[in-house]
Amino acid sequence: MHDSNHVAVLDFGSQYTQLIVRRVRELGYFAKLYAIEDFPNIGKPGAIILSGGPSSTSDADAPDLDFEALKSFNVPVLGVCYGMQLLNIKFGGSVESSDRREYGPASLLVAECVGLYQDISPSSQVWMSHSDTVKIIPEGATVIATNQHGTPVSLKWNDLFFGIQYHPEVTHSHEGLQILKNFLDHSTDLLPFRIDDFKRELIESIRQTVGTKQVVCGVSGGVDSTVLAVLLRAAGANVRAIFVDHGLMRKDEGIEVRKNFKRMGVPIETVECADRFLTALEGVDDPEKKRVIIGNLFIDVFWDSVGDAEMLAQGTLYPDVIESASNAKSKASKIKTHHNRVDRILELQAQGKVLEPLAELFKDEVRELGTALGIPEDILQRHPFPGPGLAVRCPGIVTEERLKIIRECDAIFIGKLKEHGWYDKVWQAYAGLIPVKTVGVKGDERSYEWAITLRAVVSEDAMTADWVELPPILLRETSHRILNDVKGINRVLYDISTKPPASIEWE
Ligand code: XMP
Repeated sequence: MHDSNHVAVLDFGSQYTQLIVRRVRELGYFAKLYAIEDFPNIGKPGAIILSGGPSSTSDADAPDLDFEALKSFNVPVLGVCYGMQLLNIKFGGSVESSDRREYGPASLLVAECVGLYQDISPSSQVWMSHSDTVKIIPEGATVIATNQHGTPVSLKWNDLFFGIQYHPEVTHSHEGLQILKNFLDHSTDLLPFRIDDFKRELIESIRQTVGTKQVVCGVSGGVDSTVLAVLLRAAGANVRAIFVDHGLMRKDEGIEVRKNFKRMGVPIETVECADRFLTALEGVDDPEKKRVIIGNLFIDVFWDSVGDAEMLAQGTLYPDVIESASNAKSKASKIKTHHNRVDRILELQAQGKVLEPLAELFKDEVRELGTALGIPEDILQRHPFPGPGLAVRCPGIVTEERLKIIRECDAIFIGKLKEHGWYDKVWQAYAGLIPVKTVGVKGDERSYEWAITLRAVVSEDAMTADWVELPPILLRETSHRILNDVKGINRVLYDISTKPPASIEWE
């Protein structure tokens, strides 16, 4: 899909390669990551980027690529770090190996602020992470930028081939995005990425793959699975959307999920199995054990209700795919649970019966696709919710009494966030239980009750997060309501921990 006019990023193994793809997408073009083994089968790209990588060009098994094939694409090529060193050798120059690693900021001194360096300041901060450097510059090549010591850090071999030693994709390279944009402007073949065109192509390809077969998918009320189900319906597929209500949901969540799907005209089947999950979790207080029990039971319940699926659709996103592709050197999607039922999924996958239509998209693009499909914004802007549900917000054992308290407090907190206009400003917010009894006073009596913790964070990708400075009045009103209305709680705390070192969830 979208193979013509896209930006092909060839992966030489740098930890930043995914970010290059991300940045190109931010610039409005479709980018895809390819393993070097797949070269030159990269469709018809409008531009090619060779990523950095941990190898040295002098290593015996240094990754290589067919230079004649690369030239035959006749499109602009940018070599980043290792990519630049490799290109310099291909053009007849040389590279000097070094055991010393340069890691961190450097100054980029630009010869002329034109071409790759159009609108770039003459001295700009860039981020370095390399050991080797280019040594002999081949005839015909030009040094278009150096670092503060005069070492060449950017080359132009001809009108199509460029190289940069630094990493434009990391934010520490202050003008990196503009440099990438300038490079892409050299392409006459690139077309902007439009979600509407992408939606049409997706729908067409789903139509062709699925035909009249039945496709099963799981829905949770979350953004990815919702977009998936609506997309399948839009492609005219015979969809069975199954919602496993494991009883670890927030207050009235099951009702809300059903209501939302009704609004969107997508029928769903609910499997109510709260008792099974609570029984399976009885007495278990180890966080990892809880996760495994929930994950495995979930798969069991799901497949029991599926029966014989002709096809299965999963809401895998691009970060999962490229993460597993670069880690395992395999294109198989990442499956996070270990379970015999997983064999069934792998078997279906081998038969080409697993559909992952969102697998080329990042999270924000999935939201855009959702908008293009007409999914209401309030559904698309829902906070992420963990698969194991409230169990990871309930340290220690999980009981119905504890879940009920969390649900009540959470509903009050989320309600207050919405009332004060803060819900859409935070990435995720919730109430979690601290099952420790402390002394309080209620009426004339001393109370001995649990504490509740409120957490609200901002984040871009959930890898890092910061706590939110919510207005004191919002916190005061929330705490007042909880302390008055929720039986069993006599203390409300606000979590002011960043991630790292804390995680977003409590378990
Ligand atoms: P942490 O707690 O690791 O969470 O900082 C990062 C993001 O992932 C969500 N999360 C999960 N999602 N299964 C999921 O599907 C899980 O076991 C799980 N644990 C955490 C969390 O809500 C946050 O958005």
